[in-house]
Amino acid sequence: MGQKETYWSRFADNFEERNNYVVGKADVDLILKKVAALKNLGNVLELGCSNGTFSKVLANNSDSLLATDLSEKMVGVARDCLKTFNNIRVEKADCFDLPYSDNSFDTVFMANLIHIVPNPENAIKECKRVLKKDGSLIVVSYTQKGMRLRYKTGLIYRYLKTYGKPPKGGRNFGLEDATSLLKSYKFKITNTELIGKKSKALFIKGQKK
Ligand SMILES: C[S@@+](CC[C@H](N)C(=O)[O-])C[C@H]1O[C@@H](n2cnc3c(N)ncnc32)[C@H](O)[C@@H]1O
Repeated sequence: MGQKETYWSRFADNFEERNNYVVGKADVDLILKKVAALKNLGNVLELGCSNGTFSKVLANNSDSLLATDLSEKMVGVARDCLKTFNNIRVEKADCFDLPYSDNSFDTVFMANLIHIVPNPENAIKECKRVLKKDGSLIVVSYTQKGMRLRYKTGLIYRYLKTYGKPPKGGRNFGLEDATSLLKSYKFKITNTELIGKKSKALFIKGQKK
């Protein structure tokens, strides 16, 4: 039997609204704008898609998008939210044990997954396995590193109010930490950026060699 997701599933019905409140809509929009500018993504696998906030944006520049999440509830909500896109399919998948063949995607995308899962190294390893040679891994993740103290305090307050205690095993990756993580799996880093005015998100694009 596969793993079950219990933390984020509780928020599946209104995750996007909650996230916009915690992070701040203006900064969420800046991150979405960066992702919207990614071109020619080919056949894309998205991990931890939740309700599909990023899937809608990725689909415009993808031949096909397989949007996945460990949470069955999230998968159900995403299927409903994304039903008008004819190049998106939504499935349940665990980023640590992907049910896909080696070398099968042009792009793997994950937003806000590496800082919440207990062993992001294993997720990156799986991404590398399913990516084609020269394929791209794109990692986006909120980070407190680089945030001004007063914005950080506000973010923590809104997080606790909205979700309660964070899931166990998460890690606060900064841009450099996450870049090193991808480099340790021999990705060639082609773009890094810290995005956002009050809240911050790291953005990294790496190529499988
Ligand atoms: C913080 S949310 C981020 C959602 C979305 N990518 C975004 O940025 O708006 C993390 C998502 O990852 C999913 N998740 C947690 N563990 C996972 C795993 N092992 N494999 C795949 N998805 C997982 C959760 O169910 C949740 O939907």
